[in-house]
Amino acid sequence: MAELVVALDYKDSASALAMARELKGVVPWVKVGLELFTAEGPAVITGLKELGFKVFLDLKFFDIPNTVQGAVRSAARLGVDMVNIHALGGERMAKAAMQGCAEGVPSGTKPPFVLAVTMLTSMAEGDLPVENAPSPSEMALDLAVKAEQYGLNGVVCSGLEAEAIKDACGQKFICLTPGIRPASAAGDDQRRVVTPAQAVRNGSDYLVVGRPVTGAASPLEAAQAIVEEMRSI
Ligand code: C5P
Repeated sequence: MAELVVALDYKDSASALAMARELKGVVPWVKVGLELFTAEGPAVITGLKELGFKVFLDLKFFDIPNTVQGAVRSAARLGVDMVNIHALGGERMAKAAMQGCAEGVPSGTKPPFVLAVTMLTSMAEGDLPVENAPSPSEMALDLAVKAEQYGLNGVVCSGLEAEAIKDACGQKFICLTPGIRPASAAGDDQRRVVTPAQAVRNGSDYLVVGRPVTGAASPLEAAQAIVEEMRSI
């Protein structure tokens, strides 16, 4: 069954931990991204783990293989449950990431899933700054097929692409989908959006939702409504 991941895009850990406490029991996963991790570092991960959450560290590593290997090794050492790199980094970078993951995981614990970002869900047709670029969905599918060949555990993709990716890469290959917008919510800066129901119907395994939950009058009720919509499929 698909699981909900709430993006804790906050400037400090006090705000992130307060939101996490509010969502506890309804939301199994939280996501720590660039803003929060840059401000607070590993301590916020420890705090969220102590609250009982599974943690997705969303730093989208993209560098030379040796640097990415070290970054994923450090992430695995922190005990996060999921981490990501960019698929565009290619085969050697992807393989180095898997190597770093194996090196860093504390003995006796489960290694984190290593996912590859395909195309950001904020990118639409024409946004890729490349002449004659393929469509975002074509790019996402091609990058996912490559990520699977390189031995990664799955991809970050739009719900619009999840079905084709599962068909091409197998049902066990993880599709994690941001750009989720309940029918009544604003799109914000996202472009390739789907509703929670559409994402689950298309095969997404993890749905990442930020502002529609954290910006709601009642975040708990917003999260509960999304979980119910996911379960109704
Ligand atoms: O607030 P919203 O629901 O748009 O948040 C989506 C979250 O998912 C953000 O933290 C963003 O950084 C992240 N994300 C994304 N698209 C990707 C990868 C991550 O929107 N391809």
